[in-house]
Amino acid sequence: MTLLENLQWRYATKQYDPTRKVAQEDVDKILEAARLAPTSSGLQQFRVLVITNQELKNKIVPISWDQQIVADCSHLLVFAAWNRYTEERIDSIYDFTTDQRGLPRGRFGSYTDRLKALYLTQSADQNFVHTARQAYIGFAMAIAQAAELKVDCTPMEGFSPDELDELLDLKPKGLKSVLMLPLGYRDATNDWLVNMKKVRNPKEEFVIEYK
Ligand SMILES: Cc1cc2nc3c(=O)[nH]c(=O)nc-3n(C[C@H](O)[C@H](O)[C@H](O)COP(=O)(O)O)c2cc1C
Repeated sequence: MTLLENLQWRYATKQYDPTRKVAQEDVDKILEAARLAPTSSGLQQFRVLVITNQELKNKIVPISWDQQIVADCSHLLVFAAWNRYTEERIDSIYDFTTDQRGLPRGRFGSYTDRLKALYLTQSADQNFVHTARQAYIGFAMAIAQAAELKVDCTPMEGFSPDELDELLDLKPKGLKSVLMLPLGYRDATNDWLVNMKKVRNPKEEFVIEYK
């Protein structure tokens, strides 16, 4: 199937079959798609947490608007972004990149100086707006990869990030949760959304051309 056919196939699954688990090989591919996502300045400002522990998934339900999909899914991915930029974080990824490419450290020094001048003078909240955006890019890649593998998923913002951060102890990691992505297989008999038409704005409305 083509990418567009896969995107037609997928939908925000509302009911999972809790007995079906996604193979590790497929989960790895979905994570790899997120890891390969482009990010602003290549800083890879987000991480993906993989939760399979049933007790932990159950605990997340009440802080996720009681969405049972969190408990019934096979794997719960949490996309979490840097809480703020720091000099060390920026240097660390650029040192890693130059090392990997066999280039001298500091090769991109004038560029990283510009990044530091921009981000380190902003508030942590302003930083997080930017880092969280990067998480959305990886999130979209993961959704597309899941569809190619015929793994169902549900993009989710419907949770309390502060409570989730606390539960997952994200603060010491310098991360804040942005999004969740339950993975699994649809319960086609009981999911009210499964057979509904996919609705999007017509192309003529969606695309605004300047000729
Ligand atoms: C960022 C984001 C957050 C969402 N949060 C939730 C959510 O918390 N729970 C849910 O059931 N669906 C959630 N959705 C699913 C959307 O409602 C759904 O993607 C949209 O209606 C389009 O339908 P489709 O994905 O089935 O094509 C979210 C989607 C996105 C992109």
